[in-house]
Amino acid sequence: MRVLVTGGAGFIGSAVTRLLVLGRGAEVLVVDKLTYAGDRRSLRACEGRPGFDFLEADICDRERMRATFADYRPDAVMHLAAESHVDRSITGAADFIRTNIDGTFALLEAARAYHSSLAGEAQARFRFHHISTDEVFGSLGPSGAFTEMTAYDPRSPYSASKAASDHLVRAWHETYRLPTLITNCSNNYGPYHFPEKLIPLVILNALAGQALPVYGNGSNVRDWLYVEDHAEALVSVVERGRVGETYCIGGHSERRNLQVVEAICDGLDARVPAGRPRRELITFVKDRPGHDARYAIDCAKIEAELGWRPQQSFETGIAATIDWYLANDWWWRPLREQRYAGERLGLPG
Ligand code: NAD
Ligand code: DAU
Repeated sequence: MRVLVTGGAGFIGSAVTRLLVLGRGAEVLVVDKLTYAGDRRSLRACEGRPGFDFLEADICDRERMRATFADYRPDAVMHLAAESHVDRSITGAADFIRTNIDGTFALLEAARAYHSSLAGEAQARFRFHHISTDEVFGSLGPSGAFTEMTAYDPRSPYSASKAASDHLVRAWHETYRLPTLITNCSNNYGPYHFPEKLIPLVILNALAGQALPVYGNGSNVRDWLYVEDHAEALVSVVERGRVGETYCIGGHSERRNLQVVEAICDGLDARVPAGRPRRELITFVKDRPGHDARYAIDCAKIEAELGWRPQQSFETGIAATIDWYLANDWWWRPLREQRYAGERLGLPG
């Protein structure tokens, strides 16, 4: 398979690219603008491998995308490029509207022109896989879970921009018969996670003996999925998913934020004792505006149709993640020193 992966220098995109190149022997062209969240070092294991290529480009550049499709001639597109951090979207939404909405539009148009230029088996094989989030469904109460039938109800600038992009993808399928697939996934964690998100931020702050900021009272719930399990799910969907369908992906691992932070403190204390328990660093801070209370995913559809299930539990996944950050400061230290040192984001003035 020859796959064009947008956002392949990011957290999930690099996991997908590593799986495709190293695990499946696929040919991959990564298209990435290398924003603050993108880093080619996350693709170090793929560099120099036969069939791996990298193009630094902006997905909003319509002509460039059109030419890239025509030159590369992919069998599939896996579209992960996005602005992904909710707090940054609260501080300023412009880049989210541009990349997540205009960028998806530019890619859809490039894919449509390319798809209509194909014939026979090549046309029948082509897929446009849009990678999205469970946040488009809004916020759950204490019970229940999102499914593929849940109505859209996005509540942050980030989730609204992702919801808009999902609608565009569905429209291109219905109107132009572009062979699309959409996946909506819960919170990922694992290696190469940019240290603005809760889990890597807490690991690195805790290692540095700094305060561990918990928004509100820490009772918000997320459903955590190890990133390599997500990459496996995405590759099964692009290979075997039914055209025009949506698949929800989750980890069967709901945890309150405070539980997550405490698990990291205890995991670090067991490996690198600090003299006093790191739980003492936990600091409750002003809540995120519009903070969604709870996300949970019912993944019955992908499990039944494609036989996918997460391999990691939260306990094994968080242990592997802590071990990875302890062993790979070559990756995160330059990011903390040069790009983002952990200051609070997302409190509008
Ligand atoms: P990330 O922020 O780590 O990576 C995003 C990548 O996109 C970066 O490499 C960045 O350089 C690139 N990019 C941004 N703007 C671009 C542009 N205009 N042109 C080309 N490249 C651009 O994000 P992530 O956490 O890996 O998320 C990947 C996708 O998965 C996103 O679409 C996100 O909405 C979705 N998603 C993420 C999660 C999660 O928990 N992180 C969960 C569900 C869905
Ligand atoms: O659900 C999928 C989404 O998960 C993805 O679409 C997003 O791209 C991804 O960033 C993630 O969004 P969240 O907002 O849930 O992730 P974040 O790591 O920012 O926050 C997780 C929870 O932890 C959330 O309830 C807010 C809280 N939090 C976050 C930070 C950064 C804190 O309490 N303290 C923090 O410092």
